[in-house]
Amino acid sequence: MYRVWVTGGAGFIGSHLVRYLVRTRAEWEVHTIDALTYAGNLQNLSDILDHPRHIFHKLDIADAAQIESLWEKYPPAIIFHLAAESHVDRSILSPLDFVHTNILGTVVLLEVARKYWHGRSDVLFYQVSTDEVYGSLPEGAFFTEGSPYDPRSPYSASKAAADHLVRAYGHTYGLPYIISNCGNNYGPHQFPEKLIPLTITHLIERKPIPVYGTGQNVRDWIHVEDHVRAIVLLAEQGKRGHTYLIGAEQPRPNIEIVRLLCTLYDEIMGTTDSHQLITFVKDRPGHDFRYAIQPSPHLRELGWEPTISLSEGLRQTVIWYLSNLDWLNAVRTGEYQRYYAQQYGERLR
Ligand code: NAD
Ligand code: TYD
Repeated sequence: MYRVWVTGGAGFIGSHLVRYLVRTRAEWEVHTIDALTYAGNLQNLSDILDHPRHIFHKLDIADAAQIESLWEKYPPAIIFHLAAESHVDRSILSPLDFVHTNILGTVVLLEVARKYWHGRSDVLFYQVSTDEVYGSLPEGAFFTEGSPYDPRSPYSASKAAADHLVRAYGHTYGLPYIISNCGNNYGPHQFPEKLIPLTITHLIERKPIPVYGTGQNVRDWIHVEDHVRAIVLLAEQGKRGHTYLIGAEQPRPNIEIVRLLCTLYDEIMGTTDSHQLITFVKDRPGHDFRYAIQPSPHLRELGWEPTISLSEGLRQTVIWYLSNLDWLNAVRTGEYQRYYAQQYGERLR
């Protein structure tokens, strides 16, 4: 049996990856390692939690002693590293949490990998990262594999630090690694703090939809399932020591995404007034203007194509949230209410 770890496997992207691996890789034993922070949720894995080839471990990746004892019991051949504090607005409110998990947590994993994988080339540290490490683009420009790092939020700075550390371990200790930097993901199970699930939640509850600034900031959107397929393909066939850009070539201004969601919601629910909920609010401090990705040519050569268009993916996503109101209510606990009040209290007063 081939054993792999997925850190952050109870989060949004991680749970899609774990499910995909369990369902498609019959020889693989998948270990989810997750601290179950506000963003981690065993409900995200409910259909495969007790699968015979899936084992869940509730662990903080920054806890070196626990990670090392887990390694002694279940040494992996691949670490898919996704555990992170992932939300930019929270990083502006509490940067230290981001240093703890995204930087310290990554180094803890790298250190056990260095110790136990010493000299091996048949193993892989797969770092799942973001296009935000490249900073903000001017109108019409795109990130390429050669773009210089220029992170500008505490979140992107912590992810950039982690990427640099992974590369440093590759260069210094010969650790086999791949890094992939992807654009904004969307789809089922995304925590309702991010733009798309937050907008859908507000549509369902008929509350004002907060659009930061002018709504002209651009993000490049990809369905989470297309991202997950790219990760697995690269883990199996990508060049070790290489950095890949994953994107579906769908950059859109935020206001266009929000308007599309309003239109889809009206079509699905028979309402007519969703656009009236759109509310322009005070901008995010340091708000990056544009992210847009020119995907790595090698990814295409390996046969990867995005398969889910934005309009179809968003339609499916709206329907998923409408069909999973129990999930939505369960994740919006007291902690969420506190964050929400801090983030939107003034903005939506
Ligand atoms: P998420 O916030 O939904 O999930 C993060 C998961 O990590 C949660 O399950 C949480 O419990 C877990 N976690 C947090 N701190 C931990 C710790 N100290 N120890 C163990 N587990 C911990 O995030 P996501 O959107 O699924 O993102 C996953 C990864 O992909 C992150 O590394 C993120 O930087 C990267 N990424 C995300 C996007 C996106 O659009 N969401 C885009 C590109 C890259
Ligand atoms: P977000 O989903 O937080 O992802 P990221 O900041 O990592 O790109 O935000 C996506 C875009 O939507 C970003 O430009 C900020 C904007 N946004 C809003 O306009 N209103 C909101 O309430 C949120 C959460 C984001």
